[in-house]
Parts: sequence; structure tokens; C-alpha cells
Amino acid sequence: MTVIEVDRLHKRYGAKVAVDDVTFSVEDGEIFGILGPNGAGKTTIVECIEGLRRPDGGSISVLGLDPQHDRTELRQQVGAQLQESALPDKITVAEAISLYGSFYRSPADGAALEILGLSGQRNRRYRKFSGGQKQRLSIALALIGRPRIAVLDELTTGLDPQARRDTWTLVRDIRDTGVTILLVTHLMEEADRLCDRAMLVTAGRVIANDSPSGLIASIGIQQRIRFHPSGPIADGLLTALPGVSSVTAAADDVIVTGTGDVLGAVTFALGQAGIAAERLDVQRASLEDAFVVLTGRST
Ligand SMILES: Nc1ncnc2c1ncn2[C@@H]1O[C@H](COP(=O)(O)OP(=O)(O)O)[C@@H](O)[C@H]1O
Ligand SMILES: [Mg+2]
Repeated sequence: MTVIEVDRLHKRYGAKVAVDDVTFSVEDGEIFGILGPNGAGKTTIVECIEGLRRPDGGSISVLGLDPQHDRTELRQQVGAQLQESALPDKITVAEAISLYGSFYRSPADGAALEILGLSGQRNRRYRKFSGGQKQRLSIALALIGRPRIAVLDELTTGLDPQARRDTWTLVRDIRDTGVTILLVTHLMEEADRLCDRAMLVTAGRVIANDSPSGLIASIGIQQRIRFHPSGPIADGLLTALPGVSSVTAAADDVIVTGTGDVLGAVTFALGQAGIAAERLDVQRASLEDAFVVLTGRST
């Protein structure tokens, strides 16, 4: 079932076109990523979906609602993560939860705190929180109304690697409770780890939309296989294989690059020749590689 349908969305700020005919849809229960560099138009897209900005053209349907006309109902169904500065320093977790819960018909009980690891922190004041804890609280507040869809915009920006990993685990846990997640990020690793599907946006336009592995495959970038052969390899054995682009030696190892099922071809040929591939290491192209190829720039 489609829960968000965006069709030819167009948004300008004065003469500046921020979102230029963007079309995509999000399915129930998935983590859908909107990826792109700063200024690409990602936040504008999700703010139009949340009803916070009025599009200049195109249409948006969220759970059958029009974000402009049905804002009150939409707010019950779509949870948006808060910007960090939005809470006063002295507010406690319990106060924030109760304040935000009061905006909703059937706010979540302690369960949201439990899943977010905040249940022991009820009386702690906001200003005493680490960056990771603030992020947890902002996610808790996005979920307090038991939304069907959660919009998380750059949620791990500024977090240390451990807090970032914890937050990723959290996002998966939330999805596992049935919430559809719209994830905005400029971090390709984050998207690669979390998203079922993602669209790449630059300068207000969608340039690709696929699963992370589909995005990576689309650029035809090479795999790199490195191994230590148990015996000498006959000249031409590997270079002749389908998909192999190069065979080079490094110290006692052999490095083969190629596309498609080059790993299968190499291991099969070695097996036929009675050679074992020891310390086998395969590196695939990353979403970062795909981003660079598709956008012509690095993140
Ligand atoms: N309120 C605004 N007024 C004018 N320009 C804006 C406003 N908000 C965003 N922009 C511009 O629109 C473009 C897209 O911004 P934004 O949607 O925030 O991108 P992203 O979230 O991908 O970084 C940027 O060039 C930004 O400078
Ligand atoms: Mg943004």
C-alpha cells in the first residue's frame, strides 16, 4: 500500500527553484530515504509533505490526506522529529513527553520511552542530556502521537559514531513496530544501512530512485576481490573470465577487479585449477561511490 504519493512537486523561494518536479511514492512499512547534498531541496520536500510549506505546483497525498487542507488530521498521523533547539533547557523528559503528548488524541504511554532507552531518565533535565540522548528524545517526541509515518530529517548529524550506530538501531526498531519512516540524510552510509529504497536528489531534481543495492549496481562500478592463492596461477586463467577487468599482484596476493558475478567466476576457475583462494576479501562498490558517479560530486 502506498502511504505517501508525491507528483511533480514544485517549490520556489522567490526566483530560486528549490524543488523541481519531484515525483515519488513511499510504501507502507518501509524506510524510504531522501538523499542528497546540502541545499538539494530535501527538507523542503519533507516540509511540503508535513504541510509546513505550501507547494507552488504538483500534488501530495499522505495516507489519502492533502497536507495543506487536512493539516489537523495529518498531524495525528505524521510524526516529525524536532529540531534540537526547540526544547527549553530546563524541561524534564517527563514534562516534554506530557506536553507533546497533549497534542494528540491517543498519545503513546511509557512504551516509546522504553524502546528509546529513556525510561530511567524521566526526571532528567534537557540541558543535562548528551547529543545522543537529545536525539533519542526528539525521536521519542516524533513518535509520541503513535504516528503511522515518522519523518526524520538529518537525525544523526553531529552525533559521535557510537551514538549514530545506536540511533540507527533505534530507527530499525521503530520500523519493526510498523511505522513507515521517511529518512532525510546526506550520509550515504546511513542510507545504505537503513533504507529499503532511496532517491537521490540534487538541485531540486530526482536523479535516481532505487534500493541501495540497485543504486550501486546501476553505476556498473567494480568489485574488488583480493586473495592469497595456494599455488601459482597460470597466465591468462583469470583475465579470460567474463566480467574480469583487471588482475594484478600485490605482495603475495592477487587482486581481481570486475563487474557482475566476477566472484563466482574467479572462485569457480580457481577451484577447477585446484587452487584455493585464501584470506579472500571482497569489497563492493558503496552507495558513496554511486553517489559520486550519479551526481558527479562527493558528499
Ligand atoms: N525559507 C527559505 N527561503 C529562501 N530559500 C530557501 C529557504 N529554505 C531553503 N531555501 C533554499 O532552497 C534550497 C533547498 O533547501 P533545503 O530544502 O533546505 O535543502 P536540503 O534540506 O537538501 O539541504 C537551498 O538552496 C536553500 O538555500
Ligand atoms: Mg535539510
